[in-house]
Amino acid sequence: MALSSEVTSVLNEQINKELYSSYLYLTFADYYDDRGLKGFANWYEIQAKEEMDHALAIRRYLLDNDFKPTMEAIAKPDKTFESDLAPLEAGLEHEEYVTSLIHHCYEVAHEQHDVRTMKFLDWFVEEQGEEETNARDMITNMKLFGCDPKGLYDLDREYQARTYVQSASLNL
Ligand code: FEO
Repeated sequence: MALSSEVTSVLNEQINKELYSSYLYLTFADYYDDRGLKGFANWYEIQAKEEMDHALAIRRYLLDNDFKPTMEAIAKPDKTFESDLAPLEAGLEHEEYVTSLIHHCYEVAHEQHDVRTMKFLDWFVEEQGEEETNARDMITNMKLFGCDPKGLYDLDREYQARTYVQSASLNL
C-alpha cells in the first residue's frame, strides 16, 4: 500500500529537521571544544551523529516505501552562547520542539490510518522521551556541579566517556 502524500510530506520535512538537529549539535560541540571542554564537545558530536542516523532512517523508510525524498536546504544554526549552561538549555528546548514534530508526524499517520508508519514512528516517540530526559539531566548536573572547577572537570570526564553506537533497531 502506497504512503499518502500527507505522510510522505511530513516525513520528508522531518528528514530536514533531523539534519538541522545534527548541524545544531555540531555548533554546541564547537562551543565546548573552543572552551576546552572536550567531554561536552564529544557528547554533542555523538549526538550530531545520532541525529544524522535519524534522518537516514526516515530517508530509508521513504525509499523502501517507493517514495523518493527531496533534500531541502538546511537552516543555519544561529545561536550564540554566553555560558556553559546555555547550550544545555537550548538542547532541551530543541528536543521538546522535535518531540512535537514527531508527534505531529504520528498524528498525520493516524489520520491517514497508516498503521505501518505509526509503527515505524514508535521508535522515534520513545527516543524523544529518552533525549528529553538526557537533556534535563545534563542541565541538573551542570547546575549542581558545574559552578566548581573540579565538579566541571569531573562532568567533562564523564561526557568524554560517551561512545557512538548505531542503534540496532534503526534501518539506515
Ligand atoms: Fe532526532 Fe533528537 O531528534
